[in-house]
Amino acid sequence: MANVPQLVFNNGHTCPVIGLGTWNSQPGEVTQAVKDAIDAGYRHLDCAHIYGNEKEVGLALKEKFAEGVIKRKDIFITSKLWCTHHRPDLVEGALRTTLSDLGLDYIDLYLIHWPQAFKEGGELLPYDSQGKLIPSPVDYVDTWKAMEKVVDLGLTKSIGLSNFNKKQIDRVMEIARIKPASLQIEVHPYLNHEKLIDYARSLGITVTAYSPLGSPDRPGPKPGYSHLLEDPLLKTIGEKYNKSPAQILIRYAIDRGLIVIPKSVTKSRIIQNFNVFDFQLTAEDIKTIGSLECNGRLCSLGDINQPFYPFNDEF
Ligand code: A2P
Repeated sequence: MANVPQLVFNNGHTCPVIGLGTWNSQPGEVTQAVKDAIDAGYRHLDCAHIYGNEKEVGLALKEKFAEGVIKRKDIFITSKLWCTHHRPDLVEGALRTTLSDLGLDYIDLYLIHWPQAFKEGGELLPYDSQGKLIPSPVDYVDTWKAMEKVVDLGLTKSIGLSNFNKKQIDRVMEIARIKPASLQIEVHPYLNHEKLIDYARSLGITVTAYSPLGSPDRPGPKPGYSHLLEDPLLKTIGEKYNKSPAQILIRYAIDRGLIVIPKSVTKSRIIQNFNVFDFQLTAEDIKTIGSLECNGRLCSLGDINQPFYPFNDEF
């Protein structure tokens, strides 16, 4: 993983600071996107079982391994345990399915995708007749013990959390034999997450920013707000560096010491988003961009009254 800057985890493993996001990348487009990303220099892919496209990601990897463009050790691959598989006896099987879909015998990082567990054994999104997701009583601290076992089995090098709040991280830290290596959360200027980032860092946990471009596929954060990529401030700052708003947003994450995973299936954007290592934002620009904070969360899951819903606390 020579050419991409890396962050070092608390277990000594390293992770390239930029990865290709694959949420919402359609199965028919993700294979080409991953191949384009690897050719552009990306050495980190962010995947998940719920994205429904891991087999198609695996096809791209198989081709790039066969072409000799990369070896397995040259690329960092993350996947995530889905909420219907939190029961400890289901964790190893869930990861083995992901490994088989990706065509790999280990991944680099396996995350608990959300703290909430959903009813096991059926749909990945098991709705009741009221249209609410059916919870399962499984506590994520018990899931964590099973996550540690898949590290022992060599199926993943590192484990971590996604969408957990401070209290939930604390509960995992209390029982952890293997500490979380990374926390993946939504981070962009409309949702800076300064407190949670500082807190995770104080525990030696790296932070990965998802939806760093403000996920233009989702509705905007609040009435009256434009999509982040159209924010005039980012255009103005971009002109100063001769970079696009997307490149400014990616650098905004990297310059805050985060790992960042912009998604694209468009070759020119995949290349553009990686072309961010020839400039750096000043501390003043980071502060100015940070002033866009408006608690503008774009991504949540489940009912706010259900157990372990993560976004009721301040952070
Ligand atoms: P596409 O995949 O069609 O290229 P996020 O990572 O915040 O979720 O944002 C992903 C969204 O941003 C996708 O809709 C993607 O579109 C779009 N996108 C990715 N890179 C760029 C870019 N450089 N300029 C504009 N839009 C981009």
